[in-house]
Amino acid sequence: MIHFIKPTVLDIPKMQGLVASEVKNGNILERNSSEMATTIRSYIVAYDGEVIIGFVALHIHTDSLCEIRSLVVGSEFRKQGVGKELIQRAIEEAMHYNLKTVLVLTYQQKLFEKFGFEVIAKETIPETKIWLDCIKCKHFPICDEIALTLHI
Ligand SMILES: CC(C)(COP(=O)(O)OP(=O)(O)OC[C@H]1O[C@@H](n2cnc3c(N)ncnc32)[C@H](O)[C@@H]1OP(=O)(O)O)[C@@H](O)C(=O)NCCC(=O)NCCS
Repeated sequence: MIHFIKPTVLDIPKMQGLVASEVKNGNILERNSSEMATTIRSYIVAYDGEVIIGFVALHIHTDSLCEIRSLVVGSEFRKQGVGKELIQRAIEEAMHYNLKTVLVLTYQQKLFEKFGFEVIAKETIPETKIWLDCIKCKHFPICDEIALTLHI
């Protein structure tokens, strides 16, 4: 049975195992275990029994802006609505914290548009995001991800 939890640091090795192939192919930015521990409160994890099948992070940038990061569902568990449920829960968490805008940089434009996200020009993304995160990306500085925001 699928259930969703806020993880602890003990979940980090399994989370890294799940995301490894997507880090390798450049879909998701690599985050080491210290970085994941620092931001452990931002994650929501989907479990099927004892197995981690997906996760997402909601990172807060400012008092109004947050970002959906590291969304992943294991390949054998896709197309069952787990990804959508993770996005929905991340949006609800953003609402809980009274944040106003959710940002995502993704290749999954259609999936996010289903939640009302709209494409924005990448030039409008805050500089903190670019300098702290994008420079670590395999694709930097030629970024072909699509930036979308949702106003909540
Ligand atoms: C993107 C990703 C997280 C989606 O996860 P998922 O669990 O497959 O997502 P869902 O099942 O909720 O929805 C995916 C699609 O399956 C469809 N779907 C959902 N339930 C379904 C079902 N029962 N039968 C068939 N299709 C279904 C959805 O309509 C959706 O279609 P769409 O893409 O045309 O909108 C997953 O493909 C992934 O990990 N990709 C690699 C990493 C990545 O790109 N992450 C995004 C970074 S922002």
